Amino acid sequence: KWKRVLRILEELEAACDTPVKRLRQVVDAMAVEMHAGLASEVIQVYHVYAAVWGHFRCSYWVVLLFCSFSLFRSEKGTFYALDLGGTNFRVLRVHLGGQRSLSLKHDVEMQPIPQNLMTGTREDLFDFIASSLKEFVEKANDPDQLAARRRELGFTFSFPVKQTSASSGALIKWTKGFSIEDMIGRDAAESLQQAIDRIGLDMRVSVLINDTVGTLAVGHYQDPDTVAAVIIGTGTNACYLERTDAIIKCQGIFTTFGRMAINMEWGNFWSSHLPRTTYDVDLDADSPNPNEQGFEKMISDMYLGDIVRRVILKISQESDVFGPASTLLSMPFKLRTPLMAAMHEDSSPELTEVARILEDILEITDIPLKVQKLVVKICDIVTRRAARLAAAGIVGILKKIGRDGTSGIAGGRSRTNIKLKRTVVAIEGGLYTSYTMFREYLHEALVEILGEEIALHVILKPTEDGSGIGAALLAASYSSYDTVSVD
Ligand code: GLC
Repeated sequence: KWKRVLRILEELEAACDTPVKRLRQVVDAMAVEMHAGLASEVIQVYHVYAAVWGHFRCSYWVVLLFCSFSLFRSEKGTFYALDLGGTNFRVLRVHLGGQRSLSLKHDVEMQPIPQNLMTGTREDLFDFIASSLKEFVEKANDPDQLAARRRELGFTFSFPVKQTSASSGALIKWTKGFSIEDMIGRDAAESLQQAIDRIGLDMRVSVLINDTVGTLAVGHYQDPDTVAAVIIGTGTNACYLERTDAIIKCQGIFTTFGRMAINMEWGNFWSSHLPRTTYDVDLDADSPNPNEQGFEKMISDMYLGDIVRRVILKISQESDVFGPASTLLSMPFKLRTPLMAAMHEDSSPELTEVARILEDILEITDIPLKVQKLVVKICDIVTRRAARLAAAGIVGILKKIGRDGTSGIAGGRSRTNIKLKRTVVAIEGGLYTSYTMFREYLHEALVEILGEEIALHVILKPTEDGSGIGAALLAASYSSYDTVSVD
């Protein structure tokens, strides 16, 4: 029986294998898709004086563009933001002092979203958010915090959105376990605004953004060498700064602007080079959004624990190493990723944490040390693959913008005479910030793919609450401008 167990483990390891050659294929596929996205239809383009917004879509890229981060560098005052898009929801108050980084202070309150609201009605979800915002706003009694401009609210709504202006956009589809049917096709900012009005709060949703865009805005605000932002949390996604002249449908429209931020929605990236297992196939089939978010389902916090649970379940069905069958083991999402990480990083010789979690969460008791070690190994295989794929995604972006140190897309330069520029990628999300093994595997893979010399110029910089603060920054910069359509 032990042989059978080892065979399952070996099969898993082989199916999850990510040698550097395969990672480079993923890098190339990502860069190719990014090119395809740029050539696709620009539906609308919005011009907000010095800032540009718009979006376009191809088969799976849903893209938001905007530029001119320099706008908010001199903004002053107190601004609010709401950040909705994962397991938790945040309300923030950001104080801008008129100069960069040093003057950026913020208060934040975080609340888990009750499970029933994630699958209930549009009104219930937004009423809940609006009342939390009201409570937060009313708690502020400092006169500065009550200043007139607090009316401007930045809204980070981290789902695929068809952006129609800087402050409006319709939800295309839900991801990350949310499923509120009557919200599809509805404007997220308008839904929030209606709830704010219902509750009698004097605020206007002036900016609607994705979390990647907020993180990029903050990253860029603090370090102008920031060229991209990556989120690896409940879901995963990235956005990056693109030259406006590379966006085919924008050619001739934005002659005066250098770069725009593009939300890639890379969670929905797919390539035949991705190492897919039968567990991934089953997870996808059982999910509320089958055939979607394939990259995300291999990488993000929402899914990793469940892949591990599926492997343990398979072993327990084919052997008795986990003792009598546990019904909890058959429950989807019973093993959450933070607990999987705790098992993976258990450094005690008797693996007491592994034993505790298996017992508390899955009712698996009294298993020998070698079986506990097997569980750690499964966590390791699943996390290593996730982290290495995320690294390949990041290099895909660097390749697209000519910062991966290779010739080709960047314009035919050879590796030897290339001038390496400091390249900063802002990064956020619990998987990266709180899961040490994940972070180490990601860094290791970056060095493997890029080579040590190039990797030295690439800095992954964690931002704190960037997704929400970015919305407040942009609310600040847009508060003094009116939106004018130029399409
Ligand atoms: C999901 C969402 C995306 C978001 C990401 C990270 O992939 O579709 O919009 O940026 O999660 O939160």
